[in-house]
Amino acid sequence: MSKTYFIQTFGCQMNEHDSEVMAGLLEEKGFLPARTKNEADLVLFNTCSIRDNADKRFFGTLGQLKNKKLEKGDDLIVCCTGCMMQQQRVIDSIKSKYPWVDVVLGTHNIHELPDLLDNLYRERQKQLSVWQDGGEIIEGLPVRRLFEHKSYVNITFGCNNFCTYCIVPYTRGRERSRKPSDIVKEVEGLVADGVKEIMLLGQNVNSYKGDPEGPVADFPDLVKRLNEVEGLERIRFMTSHPKDLSDKLIDCFRTCDKLCHNFHLPVQSGSDRILKRMNRRYDSRKYLDLVRKLREACPDISISTDIIVGFPGETEEDFEDTLKLCREADYDSAFTFLYSIRKGTPAAEYEDQVPEDVKHERFNRLCDEINETSAYKNSLYVGREVEVLCDGPAKRVRGKMSGRTGTFKLVKFKGGSELTGKLVKVRITSSNTFSLEGELI
Ligand code: 5AD
Ligand code: SF4
Repeated sequence: MSKTYFIQTFGCQMNEHDSEVMAGLLEEKGFLPARTKNEADLVLFNTCSIRDNADKRFFGTLGQLKNKKLEKGDDLIVCCTGCMMQQQRVIDSIKSKYPWVDVVLGTHNIHELPDLLDNLYRERQKQLSVWQDGGEIIEGLPVRRLFEHKSYVNITFGCNNFCTYCIVPYTRGRERSRKPSDIVKEVEGLVADGVKEIMLLGQNVNSYKGDPEGPVADFPDLVKRLNEVEGLERIRFMTSHPKDLSDKLIDCFRTCDKLCHNFHLPVQSGSDRILKRMNRRYDSRKYLDLVRKLREACPDISISTDIIVGFPGETEEDFEDTLKLCREADYDSAFTFLYSIRKGTPAAEYEDQVPEDVKHERFNRLCDEINETSAYKNSLYVGREVEVLCDGPAKRVRGKMSGRTGTFKLVKFKGGSELTGKLVKVRITSSNTFSLEGELI
């Protein structure tokens, strides 16, 4: 009988996509997906270290597996991968407190999973080690996609920006770009396999480096090239660093009809003093100028952001600058985060850390502000006709389907599963803070 696997993913889209690749590698080896963690022969955790809570949740979940592993022994294989496994203190803690873990694998080496499992099954060789360097990009790995009609596509790996709060440059290594021809080939293959929408992924897509001599030298060139892929309907991308967002990319919203009218542009703070301390390399004026240019190029564009509250040294005045910037940027939505100390980053050493109660109080005020704008922006859709790519049955509502507009609004509407993967027209009948309701036309 075939062995079964279960992957639990923490964190961002990069991790979700890495998990799709690891699922592809496991299925190529004959593993079948298990419905639950409890019944799987192999459990794989793909971890995240961006904030402390993801860290804690992983160790909590891992601990819950101990009795099962002790009971089943070699019949249950436990693997840990992802960003946390790039940190020596985490490896040390697994070796000392969770010695029953079978495989620890760094983010740069997921393609080695099949060989490690061979060693484990054939030679009973535990592999508690990690690989720190970036190395070559491995092309052509199998992928088991979460959705048939949409797909993530990596374009860069790693990050060179070293924002002072962020652990990513240490866990994902230096930035490397895939070759334009490899990306185009992958996208054409996906489209032939039924994919309508792609999400190009990179920590900073704007610093993508193609072939300086060829037609695809930079990120806007790549968008233009992919816009020509026949059969592809929608192109999205994330994440964009404001310091590298060029007029050339903004112009793509005028010329590329497949580019979705949505932009995720993390601001992190509205205070120029804090932005400097974060090493973001732009100020609030430059940021708001980009927002203005985006809206000029694409009047119905939706803009979202990431904001950190309570970065070391943030005063009430700095925080009010953030509130002010949010009002001016008029965001459709925002991911808001409490600053979390990450060992090994410069900001962890700053002495003026903000007290937890002050952070929470500011966080609540920011959420109230953002939610109010989100609700208002959503209300403007009522009565409009929109195109939705249907993802499948809506969560927690019977008889309804859900999907996204090009502007990334979540829309729920009555319909059957046969609509999954189709582009449909929907008239919006009402709006909430985080979603829209509508009727199929
Ligand atoms: N604390 C809080 N939020 C963080 N982010 C990154 N590092 C931290 C940290 N140490 C947030 C940033 C980034 C998003 C992915 O996570 O806003 O854009
Ligand atoms: Fe982290 Fe900054 Fe790189 Fe984004 S750009 S991954 S926030 S270091």
